[in-house]
Amino acid sequence: MPKPEALLAAMTLPEKLGQLTMTASSYAVTGPVIAGDSTEAIRAGTIGNLLNMVGADHVNEMQRIAVNESRLGIPLLIGLDVLHGHRTVFPIPLAEAGLFDPLLWERSARAAALEASADGLAMTFAPMLDVTRDPRWGRGAESPGEDPWVGECFAAAKVRGFQGEDLARPDAIAAVAKHYCAQGAVTAGRDYATVDVAERSVREVHFPPFAAAVRAGVAALMPAFTDLAGVPMTANARLLRGWLREEMGFDGVIISDYNAIGELLRHGVAADLAEAAALALNAGVDIDMMADAYRRGLPTALQRGLVTLAAIDAAVLRVLRLKERLGLFEAPYRRGATALPVTVHAAHQALAREIATRSLVLLTNRGAALPLAPALKRLAIIGPLGDSSIDMRGPWWGAAAEEGHTTVLAGLRAALPNAVIQHVAGVSVDGEDHEGIAAALALCDTAEAIVLCVGETAAMSGEAASRAYLGLPGRQAALCDAVISHVAGQGKPVIVVLFSGRALAVPELAARADALLAAWFPGSAAGHAIADVLLGRHAPTGRSTVTWPRTIGQVPIYYAQRSGGRPENPQDHYTSKYLDESNAPLFHFGHGLTYSHFEWSNLRVTPQLIGVADSVEVLVDIRNAGDRDGEETVFCFTHDPVASVARPALELRATAHLSLKAGATSTAKLRFPAASLSFPGLDLAPRFEAGDLWVLVGPSADQARLLKAWIRVSTPAGH
Ligand code: BGC
Repeated sequence: MPKPEALLAAMTLPEKLGQLTMTASSYAVTGPVIAGDSTEAIRAGTIGNLLNMVGADHVNEMQRIAVNESRLGIPLLIGLDVLHGHRTVFPIPLAEAGLFDPLLWERSARAAALEASADGLAMTFAPMLDVTRDPRWGRGAESPGEDPWVGECFAAAKVRGFQGEDLARPDAIAAVAKHYCAQGAVTAGRDYATVDVAERSVREVHFPPFAAAVRAGVAALMPAFTDLAGVPMTANARLLRGWLREEMGFDGVIISDYNAIGELLRHGVAADLAEAAALALNAGVDIDMMADAYRRGLPTALQRGLVTLAAIDAAVLRVLRLKERLGLFEAPYRRGATALPVTVHAAHQALAREIATRSLVLLTNRGAALPLAPALKRLAIIGPLGDSSIDMRGPWWGAAAEEGHTTVLAGLRAALPNAVIQHVAGVSVDGEDHEGIAAALALCDTAEAIVLCVGETAAMSGEAASRAYLGLPGRQAALCDAVISHVAGQGKPVIVVLFSGRALAVPELAARADALLAAWFPGSAAGHAIADVLLGRHAPTGRSTVTWPRTIGQVPIYYAQRSGGRPENPQDHYTSKYLDESNAPLFHFGHGLTYSHFEWSNLRVTPQLIGVADSVEVLVDIRNAGDRDGEETVFCFTHDPVASVARPALELRATAHLSLKAGATSTAKLRFPAASLSFPGLDLAPRFEAGDLWVLVGPSADQARLLKAWIRVSTPAGH
């Protein structure tokens, strides 16, 4: 008999429920502490999984108790949120997604897996795949942004990176795709709030990244905290059992979010813990994280006939099989057995710097204010985020220390050792104090250029960090205004480096700063990366994977909106627009400047007549019309103007990068499968529909800048 089956046959009910329970150690608490000290329960075999432990010694100490002192010796599964790096911190996912580079996405996950597994961990609660179109929601920082296709590519790359070729390898960790499903659509952008979107949107927008994770072999999935039209995802049998297990054949583990089973009572769908536990188990949730609902509720649920022992056994088997796939039975202490050599850490730091550099998005650059002159002798770093190591980490930092993440001040000092570079905060990020502004202005008087570092603290995005205002918090706008007004006419560039876990509504800053650089939260190498870009040692390449609003009133905002029956027409009052603001975003999805500019021509699409099995090839010529070498990102969209169900304004199909020397011309080549044009028909079943559609290619989702060509789609039936 295979090991999991043999163990199952030997288990008591409390031991089974132990395997279905994950509880926190005390390292990093991300919710209410419920479970308390678990050591005795591990010894008794009634807790089988842990979260939030760090350090191979601690992990192995716990593992030893499970393996040597519990009756059946079943090893623990131990996980942590490793979202964007473990010891080495990479940019937040929202920033890293803007690389549009699956290989680098995979490499950062691989590096994080090496570090996390060296710390004894076997699971990460990542990647986070919630499509996010509302910047009020703080968790957008953890996500790849607003586009489902980007989410699909990101999902596959991250699963490959975390899990490697074989989960049993000592440096592989199980990935957990989260939060399934549609959590990004929380009402009013408020975390944990209700979600009520059409099933079509769930199918088309929110589900695809999870489907991609399943196709990539993800080991586990986590349902969202939220409900979907009244059915909490933790109890959503249709979407968990139906879509994932039956439709997609997912046979991995489904693990609840933190206390989410207990929260079924608050949702108002269960009267007590037994009912909550039964709902979750019957929906397909195998592991109860932090609610202790399975251990306390399932015995009663069994007595009441709400669940069957067979359902419990099936869940236990899935957990044991995952432990087996991870090689935990064979070698429970293999992860964390050897420390990573320093050369590996150094390589990860270099990778973090490369990725951070490539993730910075140059939003504006008036009069080529950037790059700064290399001969600069005196530089003023102004603003509360100019020298804040802790904020460079972003909202999820794995096991990284608070200090040691390069700040803008440190990065520029390292890059320009002979220059005088000083920092004055001026104001705090979100306080009301403004007495420091005078000192900031005095420092500006001594400088040749000013780098204003403003935005959000790391804690202002991530979980439970929704914002009702999207401007600069505290008195930072006053600081920016004072600095820009003070130096006006002096010929000193004011470069704004904006830190945030979301797109911010900062139209005044965009209009008045000489250059605006979205730094997001760049991680351990933040300051070096920013210095490299500001000084032109690297031309910026990052692109925004979210649309930036001009004002909060435009939210939710995303490029793929359908046109509706009365699309905006400034000449016609009765069309879809605002009385007091334009519909146009502050910055489009895909926006990002570099130190050169490009001319696009000669779009060619083949074949012209396509069938479902074809691959569509798209060629476009691009000339670097600037006087510096540069890299362009190419976006290929489609639009179907007449279909049985109205299609989005644009749908992203492929991206490519093209590096061009100054003055050079080359051809970008992109490809996408015709089958990806299918969409949920009137009955929500996938439909590949005949008709003419546009292929549109350009440097962002800005319609005004897209070249377009027709293709004709044919189906055997002709419809
Ligand atoms: C978050 C999850 C996370 C879990 C464990 C929850 O509060 O929603 O994303 O994986 O905590 O830390």
